[in-house]
Amino acid sequence: RPRVLSGIQPTADSFHLGNYLGAVRQWVALQDDHDAFYFVPDLHAITVEHDPKTLAARTRNGVAQLLALGLDPQRCTVFVQSHVAEHARLEWVLGCLTGFGEASRMTQFKDKSAKQQADRVSIGLFTYPILQAADILLYNADRVPVGEDQRQHVELTRDLAQRFNSRFGRTLVVPEPYILAGTAKIQDLQDPSAKMSKSSSAPGGIVNLLDDPKVNAKKIRSAVTDAEREIRYDPQAKAGVSNLLTIHSALSGRTIAELEGDYAGRGYGDLKKDLAEIVADFTAPLAERVQGYLDDPAELDRVLARGATRAREVASATLAAVHDKIGFLPPT
Ligand code: TYM
Repeated sequence: RPRVLSGIQPTADSFHLGNYLGAVRQWVALQDDHDAFYFVPDLHAITVEHDPKTLAARTRNGVAQLLALGLDPQRCTVFVQSHVAEHARLEWVLGCLTGFGEASRMTQFKDKSAKQQADRVSIGLFTYPILQAADILLYNADRVPVGEDQRQHVELTRDLAQRFNSRFGRTLVVPEPYILAGTAKIQDLQDPSAKMSKSSSAPGGIVNLLDDPKVNAKKIRSAVTDAEREIRYDPQAKAGVSNLLTIHSALSGRTIAELEGDYAGRGYGDLKKDLAEIVADFTAPLAERVQGYLDDPAELDRVLARGATRAREVASATLAAVHDKIGFLPPT
């Protein structure tokens, strides 16, 4: 079975609709016919300033959300990144193969660092994509299901794997990004020219999966559209309406063409009202399911312990092969 791996950061109290439609929904589908590894990258979460208590709570909550959204620990490996020491250790080796200029060209780093004073930008934020490459390469992942914003990081991962293999001999699997065209970039409701983002969207722009359906309905009703009246999919000219159609289609299963027909001659208010209901139907049961997992911390710990054991088996074998190829003496 092909191997898949992906991760979602514990940097907010709730995942949002972009995380789900762009990534986690595919993770759930892929666990059936793939050897699947999914994790919460807490090492990545400390590349920006953080509060320790909040990080711990969000990490647990992140795992609980993944289970509530449909990851089944009997069919996939769920773990927390810091439980597997090999991630940071492979990152070091890969960092020694990465050019400074190459890392400087990562757009996520450029975006995130541009907003802060130079001295507040951590080296960890700079090496973030190299750690992500280590995450992927440790597990010999064939496919990496992510949203469009992670494509460049998967490209770097491919370059590093190929570079390692050509310098030291075939060792690492070169992964493919797995990005679904339709839902790879869910836009911010208030600023439909930007992606919906845990770190940079204003609250009104994000549909959080764990928020009260009334809160989300209000955000959907206030979503920015355009001055026309026609409900038509045209991401260039009508980014807001197109984003609403994308979300509707992804959750209702109706194609965009069908939706354009359904809404012919009707107004934006109708589309928003229906979408708010569809989103509510999807999110309403989630908060309770998440709470169910959080109320049984012993079971959650067992899931994570099993996940970490399985992850370490795979990761330690890859790291040992890498160390051997680069000339590190095996520990005696
Ligand atoms: P993160 O935590 O920002 O996002 C988790 C996943 O959600 C996707 N996503 C979106 N998809 C569509 N529309 C959006 N508006 C949207 N916003 C987020 C992201 O593309 C991602 O797939 N660096 C990663 C975490 C990571 C990782 C990894 C991923 C660490 N190591 C190894 C894959 C493999 C990140 O910050 O994702």
